[in-house]
Amino acid sequence: MRNSLLEVKNLNTLYGRSHILHDLSFRLGKGQSMSLMGRNGMGKTTTLKSILGIVPPRSGHVHFDGEDISKLPTWKRMRRDIAYVPEGRGIFHNLTVKEHLQMAARPDSNGKTSWDFERVMDTFPRLQERLSNLGTELSGGEQQMLAIGRALVTNPRLMILDEATEGLAPLIRADIWKVIATIRESGISTLVVDKNIKALKKLCDYHVVIVKGKIHFDGSSKELDENLETVETALSV
Ligand SMILES: Nc1ncnc2c1ncn2[C@@H]1O[C@H](COP(=O)(O)OP(=O)(O)OP(=O)(O)O)[C@@H](O)[C@H]1O
Ligand SMILES: [Mg+2]
Repeated sequence: MRNSLLEVKNLNTLYGRSHILHDLSFRLGKGQSMSLMGRNGMGKTTTLKSILGIVPPRSGHVHFDGEDISKLPTWKRMRRDIAYVPEGRGIFHNLTVKEHLQMAARPDSNGKTSWDFERVMDTFPRLQERLSNLGTELSGGEQQMLAIGRALVTNPRLMILDEATEGLAPLIRADIWKVIATIRESGISTLVVDKNIKALKKLCDYHVVIVKGKIHFDGSSKELDENLETVETALSV
């Protein structure tokens, strides 16, 4: 479909016999930003893993920039300029900050580099001070910044972030939200899994709330406001 960057159609994903995602469909426009919300265990991470092919869905399709990528292995999907910042960050203990960034850096699929090492350093001054530190020597916030920086140097068109603010002190969370807004303003589409409705409403154009692997709500920030009570109920424990 035109102007659609990511389109997810009727995804059904299972772990063994547990049916987790039920006919999940949504789309994200080019240059736009969307949130994916839901209580613990509702299938947010499974949705992201299904999009990336880390957990292949039983049925359904994933289109990226008009191409059906459903049958491609994960690495080929990511080479279409999709970056993933996973839950838990995935930082290597035995590599330095600099090595993480050097290892990941590559131009986009058109050979263009917008996010080089220097731009990432400008965005994360704290990382610059810690270039020769190992993954184990970083605070949680620094690890999260490195995970985002590592995704940025792959020059993505879509950045997928899974609970990037989880487990961080309030001030560090605020820094991460600012960085996500900067990324978004730079023209990278973002798909953000988080629990902070207020921050997501400000950042994203479009919102999806899932309950037990099914769409419970989808709509604009304005529609989210109009249905705030329903959405908050779906998100409260
Ligand atoms: N590898 C797996 N094998 C079997 N079941 C799994 C596996 N991973 C997740 N699940 C189950 O699938 C369901 C959805 O999990 P998922 O991780 O997608 O939820 P989530 O919305 O990301 O939750 P959280 O907010 O806790 O990160 C849960 O019931 C979970 O226990
Ligand atoms: Mg999760």
